[in-house]
Amino acid sequence: MIIAIDGPAGSGKSTIADVLAKRFGFIKLDTGAMYRTVAFVCADEGVDLDDADAVIGVANRLSITFDTSTEPARVFADGRDVTVEIRTPETDRIVSKVSAYPGVRQALLSCQRDFADSRDIVAEGRDIGTVVFPHADVKVFLTADPRERARRRVLQRHPDADERDPKIAQEVEQTLVDLERRDALDASRQAAPLKPAQDAVHIDSTASTIDDIVDRISKLAHVRR
Ligand code: DC
Repeated sequence: MIIAIDGPAGSGKSTIADVLAKRFGFIKLDTGAMYRTVAFVCADEGVDLDDADAVIGVANRLSITFDTSTEPARVFADGRDVTVEIRTPETDRIVSKVSAYPGVRQALLSCQRDFADSRDIVAEGRDIGTVVFPHADVKVFLTADPRERARRRVLQRHPDADERDPKIAQEVEQTLVDLERRDALDASRQAAPLKPAQDAVHIDSTASTIDDIVDRISKLAHVRR
């Protein structure tokens, strides 16, 4: 079975996919982590991000692997652990540019499909229900109010932060700007833009608990089974 979860940055895809994968004993495929890894390696190696061939070259030669036995799962680029590096604001800022190159998407598409080969998975990203797995058994398009998404991102980075702290409030504002910019780029690109599949179930996570959303998706999966 394939459960596809698409949606914009910070909509809760990753958290929901983790809980679902655990509940069903499925493997989670975080496709955003793959694009992030390509972006990080390009920056690390000083590759000019305007040079499409060079960026696509990195995507084609890179071996991206996951260790899903740990929590959170660890991500490796040619065997090097890049789990932390791919989540920095610097990588956030460049990943949309890298992921807009059709050649990069093509390079990662076959890895993503191979990952699902004869396994049950929960896959999360932007184009899972539309391009990667158009025949997924369950398709969800998860959204949330942009300010709430920015707030969640900042609290993920600083789990003990006090939201009344002016520095934290300022970081939420900056994250909101970055996030809306990234959504606009992801939704407006030519290749596999962020958009709901026609048969996706839309879920707004702004005011819902994780448990409510997971229960809803679990019911959809049970029906399909
Ligand atoms: O889910 P995320 O925020 O980690 O994704 C990082 C970026 O990767 C996102 O801004 C767009 C890109 N991405 C994509 O183009 N297609 C996917 N299936 C997943 C992510």
